[in-house]
Amino acid sequence: DASDIEKGTYPHYMLKEVDEQPAVIRKIIQAYQNEEGKLAIDYNITEAVSEADRIYIIACGTSYHAGLIGKQFIEKMTEIPVEVHVASEFTYNMPLLSKKPLFIFISQSGETADSRAVLVSIKALGHKALTITNVPGSTLSREADYTLLLHAGPEIAVASTKAYTAQVAVLSILANVTGQFRNMEYGFDLVKELGIVATAMEALCDSKEEMEDIAREYLSVTRNCFFIGRSLDYYVVLEGALKLKEISYIQAEGFAGGELKHGTIALIEEGTPVIALATQAGVNLSIRGNVKEVVARGANPCIISMKGLEEEDDRFVIPEVNELLTPLISVIPLQLIAYYAALHRECDVDKPRNLAKSVTVE
Ligand code: AGP
Repeated sequence: DASDIEKGTYPHYMLKEVDEQPAVIRKIIQAYQNEEGKLAIDYNITEAVSEADRIYIIACGTSYHAGLIGKQFIEKMTEIPVEVHVASEFTYNMPLLSKKPLFIFISQSGETADSRAVLVSIKALGHKALTITNVPGSTLSREADYTLLLHAGPEIAVASTKAYTAQVAVLSILANVTGQFRNMEYGFDLVKELGIVATAMEALCDSKEEMEDIAREYLSVTRNCFFIGRSLDYYVVLEGALKLKEISYIQAEGFAGGELKHGTIALIEEGTPVIALATQAGVNLSIRGNVKEVVARGANPCIISMKGLEEEDDRFVIPEVNELLTPLISVIPLQLIAYYAALHRECDVDKPRNLAKSVTVE
């Protein structure tokens, strides 16, 4: 109940929830550790995921964006193929299902009607479902075979922040534990890496002034903003664009760097803000090439890179974390930029127009 949760000294729930992210990651590490300090989840869940010949992730909005990252984790750490679907489209054109599918529903609230409709239809076909949710006892949790909890604490702001990072973290643990169950070693100590992530998150939460400056400089007067990224950064920029549009009402879109030349670049005008993420070594040169292309057409670039990959004119450099886990931290500057852009435009940050916290109609 929103009225029970105090904002404390925070002006908005969103800012409080952004700041809670390092603590949420630490809580998740604890909640998913066994007595020996090893990551562990319910044996039945590990077995069900492990036995699937294909995983179908179903979600909406921000939870869908977390699912796109989850696919990468699961495929890399378990070698099980994964498809990610927007719930509202899934029922119209259900893909041909594999012989032993497992469905993973990602939903902060556990009440999203579009996702529930898919759950009902796949249960009717006799398939198994795992729900990853923040709300124990929610509809999607009760109606699925298995549940993994996010441990993020109540999320009140309509714009999802800590639930997203919690979803990404829990998906990394699910992938890692399932991979080990299948005798595959991804070759990193996830407990240690998530600890590094939590510390990096703290540093980013302390960079509010820099993010407010970026919002003021790039987003005060513009009517649109583009976000670009490649590889994992592409999925994070989709989330950055959603955050910005839902609370600041600036028209924003996230694009894969390589797709720009296939159409979007036509939208670049003198002064158009383009926020680029550069946290992936393998695509660092190409994303920087894309930035040069938009700059040549007049764009106002804002490169947010990761330590070790940074170049002189980058606007902000995030601390270094394991390359696979960068979405957990690169999203924080984007959350904060959206927050300050909305604040400067005097928008209702916690309750944006036309939106509800959980969408219980199809
Ligand atoms: C996120 O900022 C949005 N408000 C929205 O996209 C949300 O993630 C979506 O409606 C899904 O909600 P759920 O996770 O509760 O199912």
